[in-house]
Amino acid sequence: MSDKVVLAYSGGLDTSVAIKWLSEKYNLDVIALTVDVGNERDFSAIKQKALKVGAVKALVMDAKELFVNHFIFPALQADAIYEEQYPLATALARPLMAKLLVDTALEEGASAVAHGCTGKGNDQVRFEVSINALSPRLKIIAPAREWGMTREETINYAQRYGIPVPVTIASPYSIDENLWGRSIECGVLEDPWAEPPEDAYTWTKSPTETPDKPGYVEIGFEQGVPVTIDGQKLDSVSLIQRLNELVGGYGVGRIDHVENRLVGIKSREIYEAPAATALLQAHQALEAMTLSKEQLRFKQKVAVEYADLIYNGLWFTSLHQDLAAYVQSSQRFVTGTIRLKLFKGSSRVVGRKSPFSLYDYGLATYAKGDVFDQSASPGFIHIWGLSVRTQAQVQGIAQTEGPLGTMRPKKKRGR
Ligand code: ARG
Repeated sequence: MSDKVVLAYSGGLDTSVAIKWLSEKYNLDVIALTVDVGNERDFSAIKQKALKVGAVKALVMDAKELFVNHFIFPALQADAIYEEQYPLATALARPLMAKLLVDTALEEGASAVAHGCTGKGNDQVRFEVSINALSPRLKIIAPAREWGMTREETINYAQRYGIPVPVTIASPYSIDENLWGRSIECGVLEDPWAEPPEDAYTWTKSPTETPDKPGYVEIGFEQGVPVTIDGQKLDSVSLIQRLNELVGGYGVGRIDHVENRLVGIKSREIYEAPAATALLQAHQALEAMTLSKEQLRFKQKVAVEYADLIYNGLWFTSLHQDLAAYVQSSQRFVTGTIRLKLFKGSSRVVGRKSPFSLYDYGLATYAKGDVFDQSASPGFIHIWGLSVRTQAQVQGIAQTEGPLGTMRPKKKRGR
């Protein structure tokens, strides 16, 4: 009996060829594992294909709920956005897949796991660092990184072994999708000057085709987790699916990002992330109402760290556990409702309310009902400006050369 390997199987060309290649090259029995993270696919066809190509077993796991509750929502609570643009859909799914690969390998008594990533991307790092963290002794094989075949050679290999080459090979793009978003790479998109053609997008309508009247959506949160849309309670998976449709219908969620990969490459990535865009925007708006200025300032720094660690494959680390504990604690009053206005590709926050709002009408208003004690302000300014006055008296400020120096009006020359 030969040894077993559990392969993360997408049903695409590379992972299909990998099934054959793993058994040829390493004499391993291949167990194909396909993880449903909300990519609309025909999973029973994928399963059949794995078996047809030569897998000894093909498993499909519905991991949508796990994905949303244990990966997407914690990232949302952290406001994790990579380089201020990318909501991290692919990056969040990889550690979950790694976990399921490892669990399956242990259950099936496999000595190795495999994935279809090339050697140029982030995903190989995310898979392997996660697998190592969860089960250091498991062997990892990356066929597409090892075999050194070009696209054409891979297709030839497939044809030689009767592996069906999907028609979608004709698609000029490389696509990865899950509930949190869709990433589109390759083809004309590799020219950062070229505007993405309309056919790159499938989840978002072109703003030229969206409704002529704005739409509104109200998102209700409890402790930083979205729970209602327009007052209706939804389970977490349905909530994201519903928002992807609704918000995408207004052309919201298109992202064009020249991003810094972990392996040192700058790459041009197109994303569609309607639900993520709306939820991150709404969540931040609710935090602006319910967290203090100091909490907000600190949390912004944590958000950058959090996004980087997700992007860089460090999900299963102690640093993440520490940050996650902080983020959880920060969300205890992030409860309330945000109203978004959607129109022609843009989404704006136009209303917010919360039982824990720190916005105080009496303090903010300029109308009747003002309770702010203006007579206390001179004293406040006296102390606040104390160090400034002291320094200005001793060292002056107008005499300083540099940017402020140039502000002195030029003397008129001659007459
Ligand atoms: N650049 C994005 C990331 O690193 C998306 C990668 C998409 N992955 C893929 N195998 N097509 O997370």
